[in-house]
Amino acid sequence: MDEIARIISGKPSAEDLPLDTSLRPRHLNDFVGQAGIKGNINIAIAAAKGRDEPLDHVLLYGPPGLGKTTLAYIIAAEMGVNIRVTSGPAVERTGDLAAILTNLRSQDILFIDEIHRLNRAVEEVLYPAMEDFALDIIIGKGPGARSLRLTLPPFTLIGATTRFALLSPPLRDRFGAIYRLDFYDHTSIETILKRSARILQIEAEADGLGEIARRARGTPRVANRLLKRVRDYAQVIADGVITQSVAVEALSKLEVDHIGLDEIDHKVLHTIIDKFNGGPVGLETIAASISEESDTIMDVYEPYLLQLGFLERTPRGRLATQLAYEHLGLPDKKPPQTSLW
Ligand SMILES: Nc1ncnc2c1ncn2[C@@H]1O[C@H](COP(=O)(O)OP(=O)(O)OP(=O)(O)O)[C@@H](O)[C@H]1O
Ligand SMILES: [Mg+2]
Repeated sequence: MDEIARIISGKPSAEDLPLDTSLRPRHLNDFVGQAGIKGNINIAIAAAKGRDEPLDHVLLYGPPGLGKTTLAYIIAAEMGVNIRVTSGPAVERTGDLAAILTNLRSQDILFIDEIHRLNRAVEEVLYPAMEDFALDIIIGKGPGARSLRLTLPPFTLIGATTRFALLSPPLRDRFGAIYRLDFYDHTSIETILKRSARILQIEAEADGLGEIARRARGTPRVANRLLKRVRDYAQVIADGVITQSVAVEALSKLEVDHIGLDEIDHKVLHTIIDKFNGGPVGLETIAASISEESDTIMDVYEPYLLQLGFLERTPRGRLATQLAYEHLGLPDKKPPQTSLW
């Protein structure tokens, strides 16, 4: 199955696009959960507005579907400024970035999604832009070349990434605020589902939404997607109302287990346990044995399995924990064999 089509993937799929725009909260007050980040952003915005200055550069990172793009738009709306959106792979040449930067207006926001994928030359143009609102241009070639410094309007860069570790340290250091988005707790996901059901005019009982929330992997995008699928099921099979039993039936048809794991999560765990005695085993080896891309496993599957405590990362590779054995209904994990040496 195509990974993008997977129901529990936090990554956006084509069918999410209309869903994302209609359900995306527009103001900080509608943004559910992530209380710490919200509080900090609120203060930063009020302070910047009070001084009539642009907001400090912000870096948002965390697994897909947790609200990085949403927050960037919210920050722009709350600041009352324009947002220009692009992404790391889209900015191919330094000239592309120079064109974007020189077209910004004072206090505008430049949002660069997947900022870890900017190439090095482009990234170097960003350094003086972020630090001094300056653009260094080289005119001419060879010994006669001169460098010219253009002044840029003061702006705010918001970067988003699922891979904090791939960001170069000089780029990281130039952000005034770095926020890590975490998986949402059960109550927050329930609140998000209630809001979405209201907007989409879906009739749902609290137990029904609770059941969806339990399987949504703490990820708003997954929650909204599951809600939509369960609504279809309720409409065709039941009388349109999402009750708990309708939700359970619909979700088991979609092969999402009672804590939100799908076939690939099960394959990852079974591979580590059955083929490698519970690990440790390298990510590339796991990816190769189940024919998935290691990037997909790292971005989509592993973060949630780590969060559940089913996996552990060690310097020698991934380990399946006793909890994983229990979830799969397997006999207890054997202690590692101690060598005679
Ligand atoms: N805190 C929240 N409250 C309510 N809805 C949310 C929240 N966060 C995210 N969502 C919903 O989840 C959807 C996905 O969020 P968003 O696109 O911001 O994720 P992302 O972190 O940018 O993901 P990616 O890494 O794939 O770009 C949004 O369209 C919105 O409907
Ligand atoms: Mg995004």
